[in-house]
Amino acid sequence: MSHKVSPSLLSADFSHLADEIEMLNRSEADWIHLDIMDGVFVPNISFGFPVLRHVAALAAKPLDVHLMIVEPQKFIPEVKALGAMQMTVHYEACVHLHRVIGAIKEAGMKAGVTLNPATPVSLLSDVIGEVDLVLLMGVNPGFGGQKFIEHTLVKVRELRELVERSGSCALVEVDGGVNLETGRRLVAEGADVLVAGNAVFSAQNPLEAIHQLKNL
Ligand code: DX5
Ligand code: ZN
Repeated sequence: MSHKVSPSLLSADFSHLADEIEMLNRSEADWIHLDIMDGVFVPNISFGFPVLRHVAALAAKPLDVHLMIVEPQKFIPEVKALGAMQMTVHYEACVHLHRVIGAIKEAGMKAGVTLNPATPVSLLSDVIGEVDLVLLMGVNPGFGGQKFIEHTLVKVRELRELVERSGSCALVEVDGGVNLETGRRLVAEGADVLVAGNAVFSAQNPLEAIHQLKNL
């Protein structure tokens, strides 16, 4: 099965958000990646639910929601109300990760867990059978357009092995620093989903950039 591409709206032109979403609807993107930040878990704030409700109303692709916030379980109803396909929380933000994964699935969404660059893949061994997706950060979260951390490739390989070994159905997604060059290497190591912000929205032709990321 070919890999999926999930463009991150964080790098879009927010003064023309409807046009940007319309472009994604027409593109070969599989999902739309939405980055929610709180200025506490990460040193930045992006957009919140009043904005996301408008995004969700216009988006014609499944919403891949990435929460970079403390206590993400508090917002399960809000994410569900957006009609999101998937809600991904940070391992580092959940004291009771197993409970949070259960609550997301109970709400009828796919449950994802994400790891910061310094968090080892091995810490997921006891929950890998419960999650639908693992998101590996290729940069320290908080900002688009950062340089890819090379060690992420090793983590993709380790995660692929853990998924195969445990018989888990979890998809392997990578977020941060993804471009045509790093994307090609990530897919070769076993990534199922590529998130890309800067590589899509800073391109001369974002539709073509998405096409190229789909056809690595
Ligand atoms: C980073 C966000 C990413 C970000 C990726 O904190 O989680 O989704 O938008 O941006 P690029 O692709 O520009 O590294
Ligand atoms: Zn993200």
